[in-house]
Amino acid sequence: MFIKKIAILFSGNGSNLENILQKVHNRVFNGIKIECALLICNKKDAFGIERAKKFGLETMIIENNKFQNREEFDKKLVEVIKKANVDLVILAGFMRILTPIFTNRIKAINLHPSILPLFKGANAIKESFESGMMLGGVSVHYVSEELDGGKLIKQRAFERTRDMSLDEWEEQIHKIEHELLSEAIIEILCG
Ligand code: GAR
Repeated sequence: MFIKKIAILFSGNGSNLENILQKVHNRVFNGIKIECALLICNKKDAFGIERAKKFGLETMIIENNKFQNREEFDKKLVEVIKKANVDLVILAGFMRILTPIFTNRIKAINLHPSILPLFKGANAIKESFESGMMLGGVSVHYVSEELDGGKLIKQRAFERTRDMSLDEWEEQIHKIEHELLSEAIIEILCG
């Protein structure tokens, strides 16, 4: 059987990581099996590390604060990812700005909790909620040198309901994320 390998990078809670492991890891689509070959986390206490263990997967911890600068950290990421020989890297809640050292060498996609190009950056859920816009949403895009600025792959929106709270807004976003990211991975690798 033809196998395509992925690496997943994450920083915290890891609900998207767990979702990918449930829906995509070791499953076959169009005769192609997707295998998660590498997990990297930049925070040693991230809850996602525990989630991965349920699937028998160990996470490699590479703490960014142990490196002198962004470039040195990215060099290490590139070295480890190249060694694993993966077909695609997935940033699932990986809260780091990546330099061209990474973006020029690694084919990666990123999940972002807004309708890009609106609300780039680390606080997209709160900022999109507070904007008063009647639509919120989620984007999956290729990773480029520009933060949250690479070519779009998939987007899905939802409508704000009357009196929607920030918690409800966030819940909608996560629900869509848990559909959209696995769909994108399958389409790219097996579509
Ligand atoms: C997700 O909402 C993801 O879109 C966001 O971090 C969260 C991670 O949740 N990513 C970004 O904001 C990237 N700029 P998770 O750890 O439960 O998967």
